[in-house]
Amino acid sequence: MKNVIRDKNIVLGVCGGIAAYKSIELLRLLVKQEANVQVIMTRKACEFVGPLTFETLSGQPVCISLFGDDGDASIKHIDWAKEADAVVIAPATANILGKIANGIADDALCTFILAVTSPVIMCPSMNTHMYENRAVQRNIDILEADGKHIIVPGEGELACGISGAGRLPEPEFILEYLISILSTKDFTGKKVLVTAGPTRECIDPVRYISNYSSGKMGYAVARAAAKRGAEVTLVSGPTNRCVPQGVTCINIESALEMSTAVFDAMDNSDVIIKVAAVADYRPKKQADQKIKKSGDELVLHLQKNIDILKELGGRKKNQVLVGFAAETQDLKNNAQKKLTEKNLDIIVGNIVGTPTSGFGTDTNKVTLFFKDGTSESIPEMDKEEVANILLDRILMVK
Ligand code: PMT
Repeated sequence: MKNVIRDKNIVLGVCGGIAAYKSIELLRLLVKQEANVQVIMTRKACEFVGPLTFETLSGQPVCISLFGDDGDASIKHIDWAKEADAVVIAPATANILGKIANGIADDALCTFILAVTSPVIMCPSMNTHMYENRAVQRNIDILEADGKHIIVPGEGELACGISGAGRLPEPEFILEYLISILSTKDFTGKKVLVTAGPTRECIDPVRYISNYSSGKMGYAVARAAAKRGAEVTLVSGPTNRCVPQGVTCINIESALEMSTAVFDAMDNSDVIIKVAAVADYRPKKQADQKIKKSGDELVLHLQKNIDILKELGGRKKNQVLVGFAAETQDLKNNAQKKLTEKNLDIIVGNIVGTPTSGFGTDTNKVTLFFKDGTSESIPEMDKEEVANILLDRILMVK
């Protein structure tokens, strides 16, 4: 999948707030993604961080004044505005919010913003009482009505010593937001249900049967679909992953809990993608108390879990139904058998058990099998890239 940030012209506006140091990290992340970044700083921002740092990291002169030393700065803001694919203002102070909300153009940054037609993302960051002040909130309302994207600040301990809303979100979060704004929105209007992670089948109050699924693949599918404009519901087994921006997550533990959540959401879904590694069996009896050690052997009786995907295949109406098949051998036959038996549109045959593919890895090696009998082998790549290729193919299912 293409990196949506690569070669994009991003203008980073930096205002005078204590969080200005975090915009250095944001710039570093943007440059790492191969964006062309132009930085505009307010004069007050220069009192918190030096322009030289931004100049060095971006490889471009920083714009501070409309009337710079090089003589042509007054034209520069129009050129940059024309070329910008997106603008991020981080941190955005109460002052800049007020100026931009009211069309004031008395410095380089707010003059530039008046000339911009591409998306503008503003990241308010200030003292909680300032942030909650009616005038600031009124300005934010105006900015949102004008089509600016406002990232709600985080809550926590602030530099001024009080605790509350006003923290600049982490640079990684701002980058994700920007990627989502720049991504193609070809899933707009589609409701996508994704399952991810393992299930846990309880043996007694302290033990369970599970597997090594980390949730990386399922969360990557959910994240990619949300970035492409889908309304995403993620039914997730226990993982330590963060819920992607804009995704509704339903946490479950067992296969039975997953089946309830999935069947409840099924009728309201256009696409269902079952990435989760569901336990095929659960202990027949769940002990109320911790099972005590006794004897050299312990026999656990297992009972078959419902095959959620197969059941979905039976109940399917107009949904596109996608399964994953984790296989250690004979990928083609095993995957194709599941495709037919479970009445799927696509099955993602996933070779597992190698250091770079399958459970817990950041990359994956998969082959897509389609219901018309064709297949497509995808080279090993990052799980989010795999997710995007899968989403591309889902759009082609009739
Ligand atoms: O989470 P990661 O660490 O990133 O790992 C990703 C993954 C390896 C778990 C993922 O890519 C993958 O292959 N998921 C499917 C794992 C699996 O359980 O495969 P399966 O062949 O046992 O099941 C086939 C399909 O039926 C799956 O879509 C599964 O969700 C579904 N199923 C299986 C059993 C069951 N009782 N109910 C189901 O719905």
